Amino acid sequence: MIDSSSLHVHPDQASAIDALARHVVAQARVAIAERGRFTWALAGGSTPRRLYELLASEQYRTNVEWSKVYVFFGDERCVPPSSDESNYRMAHEALLSRVPIPEGNVLRMAGELEPEVAAEAYARALGDVFATARFPEVAPQFDLILLGMGDDGHTASLFPGSPALEEKVRWVSAAKKGEQSRLTLTYPVLNAAREVVFLVMGVSKQTMLANVLGFKGGSPPWPAVNVRPTQGVLRWFIDEAAAALIQEHLPAKS
Ligand code: 6PG
Repeated sequence: MIDSSSLHVHPDQASAIDALARHVVAQARVAIAERGRFTWALAGGSTPRRLYELLASEQYRTNVEWSKVYVFFGDERCVPPSSDESNYRMAHEALLSRVPIPEGNVLRMAGELEPEVAAEAYARALGDVFATARFPEVAPQFDLILLGMGDDGHTASLFPGSPALEEKVRWVSAAKKGEQSRLTLTYPVLNAAREVVFLVMGVSKQTMLANVLGFKGGSPPWPAVNVRPTQGVLRWFIDEAAAALIQEHLPAKS
């Protein structure tokens, strides 16, 4: 069962998103001060769009030293970047095209390439950026990996029953969601991060959230359960709608 201190529960989606925007700004500031850059892997899907738009807004845009922010992707659909299915396109529209981040600081997963080729290319690029190419057994250590969670317990493009769940060495794997090919960071990378933040909101996620957080028991085949940073911090930013089934386990409101 997860330590409830890692749960950041907010009354509604807007307050959860605002709190997470403030958290990202704060973490970027610390990373840049301590290490000269902030390496951030974005989540796809629909939930994070509002977070990205808020970070690009007047309220937050000027609080981040974008020239020292390096953006990556936790997963991608195997579609061209122009596709409305593309996680890159969503992030570009909501954030990357609206902040002064140098183009070279954004490392896109090449969804237009053959999946295995794209996975290998992304892993090589990670090795270059994180200077671990010489030590392939040392996974890249992101400052922050943002993840979502599906109502089936998947995260990134690690879906229940996927062979990618068993990947213990490669950093990037080809995967499938039904017939759709995907690319995804693997557990070795997710669990090497300094910090992993799940952003989970809405009533549709409440049952799976209670499952994944261990409040409903049962042996979990759910991929999100195995995101446990070995040395880093795990945090959940949740709205009350998603937290409806775990309220009794939350710290009393001060
Ligand atoms: C994707 C995402 C995926 C997403 C979850 C939750 O490519 O779709 O990476 O893992 O985070 O499916 O999606 P929603 O935020 O849209 O519910």
